[in-house]
Amino acid sequence: MPLLLLILFCLKMMSNKALTSTLVFLFFSVVLSTPPEDPIKCSNSKNTSCTITNSYGMFPDRSICKASQVLYPTSEQELVSVVASATRNKTKMKVATRYSHSIPKLVCPEGENGLLISTKYLNKIAKVDVEARTMTVESGVTMKQLINEAAKVGLALPYAPYWWGLTIGGLMGTGAHGSTLWGKGSSVHDYVVELRIVRAAGPEEGYAKAESLNEQHEDLNAAKVSLGVLGVISQVTLKLEPLFKRSITYVAKNDSDLGDQVAAFGHAHEFADITWYPSQRKAVYRVDDRVPFNTSGNGLYDFIPFRPTPSLELAILRTTEDLQESTGDADGKCIGSKTTTNTLITAAYGLTNNGIIFTVYPVIGFQNRLQASGSCLDSLQDAKITACAWDSRVKGEFFHQTTFSISLSVAKKFIEDVQKLVQLEPKGFCGIELYNGILMRYVKASSAYLGKQEDALDIDITYYRSKDPMTPRLYEDILEEVEQLGIFKYGGLPHWGKNRNLAFEGAIKKYKNAGRFLRVKEKYDLQGLFSSTWTDQMLGLKDGVTILKDGCALEGLCICSQDSHCNPSKDYYCKPGKVYKEARVCTHLKSK
Ligand SMILES: Cc1cc2nc3c(=O)[nH]c(=O)nc-3n(C[C@H](O)[C@H](O)[C@H](O)COP(=O)(O)OP(=O)(O)OC[C@H]3O[C@@H](n4cnc5c(N)ncnc54)[C@H](O)[C@@H]3O)c2cc1C
Ligand SMILES: *[C@@H]1O[C@H](CO)[C@@H](O)[C@H](O)[C@H]1NC(C)=O
Ligand SMILES: *[C@@H]1O[C@H](CO)[C@@H](O)[C@H](O)[C@H]1NC(C)=O
Ligand SMILES: *[C@@H]1O[C@H](CO)[C@@H](O)[C@H](O)[C@H]1NC(C)=O
Ligand SMILES: *[C@@H]1O[C@H](CO)[C@@H](O)[C@H](O)[C@H]1NC(C)=O
Repeated sequence: MPLLLLILFCLKMMSNKALTSTLVFLFFSVVLSTPPEDPIKCSNSKNTSCTITNSYGMFPDRSICKASQVLYPTSEQELVSVVASATRNKTKMKVATRYSHSIPKLVCPEGENGLLISTKYLNKIAKVDVEARTMTVESGVTMKQLINEAAKVGLALPYAPYWWGLTIGGLMGTGAHGSTLWGKGSSVHDYVVELRIVRAAGPEEGYAKAESLNEQHEDLNAAKVSLGVLGVISQVTLKLEPLFKRSITYVAKNDSDLGDQVAAFGHAHEFADITWYPSQRKAVYRVDDRVPFNTSGNGLYDFIPFRPTPSLELAILRTTEDLQESTGDADGKCIGSKTTTNTLITAAYGLTNNGIIFTVYPVIGFQNRLQASGSCLDSLQDAKITACAWDSRVKGEFFHQTTFSISLSVAKKFIEDVQKLVQLEPKGFCGIELYNGILMRYVKASSAYLGKQEDALDIDITYYRSKDPMTPRLYEDILEEVEQLGIFKYGGLPHWGKNRNLAFEGAIKKYKNAGRFLRVKEKYDLQGLFSSTWTDQMLGLKDGVTILKDGCALEGLCICSQDSHCNPSKDYYCKPGKVYKEARVCTHLKSK
């Protein structure tokens, strides 16, 4: 959830004429964007001796993952022969996608000699059944492709993640979702009616085989959210709806009654979400509902933080942020966050009434033009003039993400605890407001074994990460406390595709059907060829999700239990939380 369209702010801050005209020039050249880098790099044209990372170019522990080779099957048949060959060799495998958007090390095969199976060219629409309203796609198809192809035949996926660069296989791997409490909820995997998965097998079955799982098949509940450890999903059939229109209005209010509003608001509007700016004491409610098909309007959502951003602007913003961090300039961050938020609100976050400009609410339009975006993925040329804000090839955003869902029944208490923290440290949240605050979305209980256990509020927070792992953040303790509040006090489920290591501590115990999932895993991949130490740790099969070392709490690799896990040389010590006393957080003792 990156961001900051701060040209205006920068212009205000720097009255350098040359820079101003450069920025204005760049503002009008935003179409010259670079597509994201391939997360896989190999040392030769045979695609062997490779490394893999994620779209941010950095895993939580900053390690680099290796693989002996990457293969690019283009059909299920090829996929079966790839998996068979690796199984015969007892080679460890992992599925990789075009962009590799997940933060944790899900994509890393064990050791250095593993095989990566890329779904980059498993990217075709296999079948569309307009009557039955289903669509069958290969697992490497992106959300963008799916949305566009469905719309061409008058169909729509009702709920989905807001970023369209994800692949179907990848988003199912981590249980990705949008926001609703209606129907079957906002998780894409709950709209899967059938899938085909290629898994390891014994010699009598030729070492690999494709299984077809439909809704009658219990194993579908494991395969719908699998962390990639069961095998390679080759194709997925989704239940869609007739294309519809919706009407969106963002309403900004003060946050004094947010706790009371949160559950009711989610039930009241089909596509509701809330963006919360705690230090500004402001909440922006997304009032978003279906409207009759003949309602006029051709709105478009091109979310500003997902647009191509000028590299120069990104560099200025990062430099400003680094400077504010190193000088402890909380006021500077608070001023910046207000400007950012006001800019986004004024620009309706990137909504337009007609694809060109925003004039008035509500913005009404077709589902396929409003449900997701990601224009920074598109490119016209290979110059690094603009990029996605988090592209690691340019100096730009570099952040941690903490994302968990807490039962709706405790959402009010959680919000009130955070508000107590705001009262104690009024500037403590300005840093996250530079990354568009706390996004709160609705998710429903799922039949997937590793899916949501209850109807819940998903909390999504993005925040500054230093390039130096030993450098603490401004108000380090406050965000660490929020993270521990949500995940431990209120039992939040960490998003499998986001988060820092500590969020996964004991996570698997929160899933009542974890045992069933593990039995399916044994059945599908007895030798654990699709597993790694990291996925075993996530699944509670091995210890060591958290890593104890100097500064580990600063990186979210551990919860501090001694001062060295913070950084005493910079006056950061391990202390109890301010509201949640059981929390252990890195606190600056000479602060303010
Ligand atoms: C800008 C941005 C916005 C985001 N917005 C949202 C959002 O709105 N909601 C949300 O829930 N999440 C969101 N995410 C997180 C994202 O949904 C997850 O990280 C998702 O899993 C990434 O999908 P991917 O295609 O990049 O897969 P990867 O990250 O490459 O893979 C994820 C896992 O799935 C496995 N896998 C991939 N393909 C297959 C396959 N064919 N068969 C078996 N296993 C497979 C991989 O091995 C890996 O374990 C966002 C991420 C970014 C970067
Ligand atoms: C090597 O990888 C590229 C993608 O990066 C792919 O297009 C090409 O087909 C691969 N070559 C071989 C020999 O598999
Ligand atoms: C399996 O081993 C054989 C022989 O060493 C090798 O040619 C082949 O590429 C290997 N297959 C995979 C998928 O690693
Ligand atoms: C917040 O808004 C409510 C009305 O929605 C109002 O009663 C209250 O006084 C406001 N609080 C602050 C601090 O502005
Ligand atoms: C939309 O269609 C309904 C009937 O299907 C009609 O009653 C209504 O007036 C129409 N609305 C508009 C804005 O055309």
